Amino acid sequence: MCGIVGYTGPKEAYPIVITGLKRLEYRGYDSTGVALLNNGLKVYKKKGRVADLEESILGKDLHAHTGIGHTRWATHGEPSDTNAHPHVSTSGKLAMIHNGIIENYAQLKKELTNKGYTFKSETDTEVLLNFIEEIRKNNQCDLEEAVRVALKRVSGAYVILLVDEDNPDTIIAARKGSPLVIGVGKGEHFLGSDASPMLEYTKEVVYVNDYELAIVRPDELILKNLGNEKITPFVTKLDMELAAIEKGGYDHFMLKEIFEQPSTIHDCLRGRLDALAGTITMSGVENNIEHFKKAPRIIIIACGTSWHAGLVAEYIIEELCRIPVEVEYASEFRYRNPVINKGDIIIAISQSGETADTLVAIEKAKEQGAIIFGIVNVVGSSIARLSNGGAYTHAGMEIGVASTKAFTGQLAVLTMVALKIAREKGTISEERYRNLLLELQDVPEKVEALLKNADEIRLIAEKYKDAKDALFLGRGYNFPIALEGALKLKEISYIHAEGYPAAEMKHGPIALVDENLPVVFVATKDSYHEKIVSNIQEIKARKGMVIAIATEGDETIPGLADDVFFVPPADEIIAPMLSCIPLQLLSYYMGVAKGVDVDKPRNLAKSVTVE
Ligand code: AGP
Ligand code: GLU
Repeated sequence: MCGIVGYTGPKEAYPIVITGLKRLEYRGYDSTGVALLNNGLKVYKKKGRVADLEESILGKDLHAHTGIGHTRWATHGEPSDTNAHPHVSTSGKLAMIHNGIIENYAQLKKELTNKGYTFKSETDTEVLLNFIEEIRKNNQCDLEEAVRVALKRVSGAYVILLVDEDNPDTIIAARKGSPLVIGVGKGEHFLGSDASPMLEYTKEVVYVNDYELAIVRPDELILKNLGNEKITPFVTKLDMELAAIEKGGYDHFMLKEIFEQPSTIHDCLRGRLDALAGTITMSGVENNIEHFKKAPRIIIIACGTSWHAGLVAEYIIEELCRIPVEVEYASEFRYRNPVINKGDIIIAISQSGETADTLVAIEKAKEQGAIIFGIVNVVGSSIARLSNGGAYTHAGMEIGVASTKAFTGQLAVLTMVALKIAREKGTISEERYRNLLLELQDVPEKVEALLKNADEIRLIAEKYKDAKDALFLGRGYNFPIALEGALKLKEISYIHAEGYPAAEMKHGPIALVDENLPVVFVATKDSYHEKIVSNIQEIKARKGMVIAIATEGDETIPGLADDVFFVPPADEIIAPMLSCIPLQLLSYYMGVAKGVDVDKPRNLAKSVTVE
């Protein structure tokens, strides 16, 4: 995945680059490196976090007005000092950073090796860099032309930033598949994987598109396609403040983001939901309403937590709109030969809007004529731009690697979308529609109320923190929440966890149950409540330890479970937005109790822009 930053202008480049890298660490944190141009090329790089590099180069001459920096999530070659970016070309003149994967690197490497090139690292990046250098030498052309020629031979995904010792005020950048934002200042330019490195300097940004090449100098930004034709940069205004990417007094971004949910859900509903008037305003749905009404099928494509939001939506849309829904892992969908019929609508769900699997899957579906409706958090992201219509989740920047507030935002948007379609199709009664609108409106307040008891979850987490495994069970609308709870626990506390439909347990997983296994039941009051109570009994009969998420006022579950956390009563369609929150807190507190760096758990990255 990797984060990339660049600066060229009158300011000192190093502090801008290093601060930018800290903000982009969510994209990867295996190694860090910078290249600075000042009387030649200086490259500093090191395995580990940005802070490790910063400390190791204290006191060095870091003066420069042009610089690039990289924080890595390794794909080719283990995290090490040598595999860290920037890579330097054989001549020692060029330095390059890269986010993505060069899929045909082995072939290119062979060609270069035959010509006598040797490689210091195991990365695909170093191969591309020397390939560019070889073309420049061979074709006697300038660097820009060499990059263009090289990229035409490359398959895979990339954002590259390239600097040349002989042109110390120029950064050459190119993109295909991975994100690249260029900030336009007065006599200066900033480059980043997202806009966070440039927030305090400029609000004017250009989102670079696939197959575009940028030649960036302090007072000049030239954008071209790979055919060497100039493109006019489209400057957009950023709607984001610096405070949005700071911790605001919380120990971790994850905790801050969990606690922000009353306001992020409110922001998501604001201006859309008017429960009194009985209306939902969503232009993305309105513009496509005829398609939605006639859709023979909806296919939801997503990964990870966003996929779980899709599963909840499957239950909601089928129930309210009577449209068949399939929920697909983007990574599987893209390599299958899926049947897409005329009129099918694809809903792509993604926090980052950059997830490579989701992006490619919808590109493929679009080619086959499907209509793409994007539910995305990051404004202006690739998936948002590729969609024919959609709705933003408005959860604000999510930095913790574990997705929390984006998930509840996705559920809120999906519920509104379903209600709107159901109303238009006439598949929902007026009374149920009105009730659900009122219920939705109350969600932020209910979330606020349950968060007041977060400490109860902390105590439960401390009690079970030494567990080796955990089972998460739920039925109906809460089944995907069980999956989400298990995913959260795995990523944040490294405890092996599995999510299952509660009734499916007896077909296998029940064999795991003994007095050491915590079993988390998502058992809020719904139409299957009695059934899940029986499932709890089945676990207790086998001496399992039961942690239950139950509805306030439930009198049965406290008598059965070892530990209970109550959430406010809600309609079963709305309940997932509440029941997921104690599970987010459970994984957070377990992770903290185990000493895990919860914002940056091992091996993960926030935005998965590689396959
Ligand atoms: C969530 O906690 C995960 N880290 C991960 O599963 C994530 O949801 C997934 O990678 C999809 O990301 P996206 O929503 O940005 O597309
Ligand atoms: N493929 C490059 C490497 O392994 C970049 C990785 C990435 O962007 O995820 O170093």
